[in-house]
Amino acid sequence: MKHRLAILPGDGIGTEVTAEALKVVGAAGVDYEAVPFDLGGERYLRTGEVLPDSVLEEIRATDAILMGAMGHPDVAPGVLERGIILRLRFALDLYVNVRPFRAGPSAFNNGVDMTVIRENTEGTYAGEGGFLRKDTPHEVATQGSLNTRMGVERCIRFAFDLARSRERHHLTLVHKTNVLTFAGDLWQRAFDAVAAEYPDVATGYHHVDAACIYFVAEPGRYDVIVTDNLFGDILTDLGGAVSGGIGRAASANLNPARTGPSLFEPVHGSAPDIAGTGQADPRAAIVSAAMLLDFVGESEAAARVFKAVSGSDDVTGTTSDIGSKIAERV
Ligand code: IPM
Ligand code: MN
Repeated sequence: MKHRLAILPGDGIGTEVTAEALKVVGAAGVDYEAVPFDLGGERYLRTGEVLPDSVLEEIRATDAILMGAMGHPDVAPGVLERGIILRLRFALDLYVNVRPFRAGPSAFNNGVDMTVIRENTEGTYAGEGGFLRKDTPHEVATQGSLNTRMGVERCIRFAFDLARSRERHHLTLVHKTNVLTFAGDLWQRAFDAVAAEYPDVATGYHHVDAACIYFVAEPGRYDVIVTDNLFGDILTDLGGAVSGGIGRAASANLNPARTGPSLFEPVHGSAPDIAGTGQADPRAAIVSAAMLLDFVGESEAAARVFKAVSGSDDVTGTTSDIGSKIAERV
């Protein structure tokens, strides 16, 4: 089956790592048509456009999306992030962000094999809030956290299903129920209610600050973790740092109901400081592409890519060298 893939290389190293991911997908023998989209800082600076509605609809018509990174040093923070990444997450209802971490060449390598399920469309990311009396000494800024029972529950249910499919059958809820007594209470009640449907999955709870310690000191204790949008954002950068490094941290932004395409992207950003130097590690993008293949039904090809990447610790060189050597091994 031929897959129509929306390719959004984006900015900085995003374009470099996306090219390597596609090299590997091709080498895996998957039949695909790449539909490229010119989105990101360069287009915004050239035309003032972030994500035109017509482009969003073209993307919506594809089978899956592979994205590099969005973010440009000459563009104000938030323009591309909110205008492209978050807009796609909201518009395509990509309500689960799956971020797996496995042991890799890192100083903190300590038997890591965990997957963070980050709620991806609510919380502080929903954008509730505003200013009062802006630019006066009495300025007020509020930034709300939106948590719907439906949104929280569907994410938690996804996490339980994943935990059930894995060997250890363990799921930890991470939140801050001792301070965020409204949102935390809703999350805890939704978690407990869904847990009753999964008696075969053992559960635990950690406050997010304590989870940061365990991520560094004892990450082997985690199997699957479920958490809210902002905690998940922060924890997964830490997860990358304590496993194979942020250059290996991959992610899948999923619409599990499959009412539209899902989006796959490395956790890292556009890294303008190393763009064009060939130093970017393409593994996060390659693993993200493998997650894409798995989700669109190419599980055998995906397994070969996962294996080639996990066995690639001996591979060094430029971004393109690493991509080529992994491509040879799939
Ligand atoms: C991520 C990124 C994004 C996020 C930014 C770029 C909006 O950091 O995917 O983790 O905060 O979700
Ligand atoms: Mn992040």
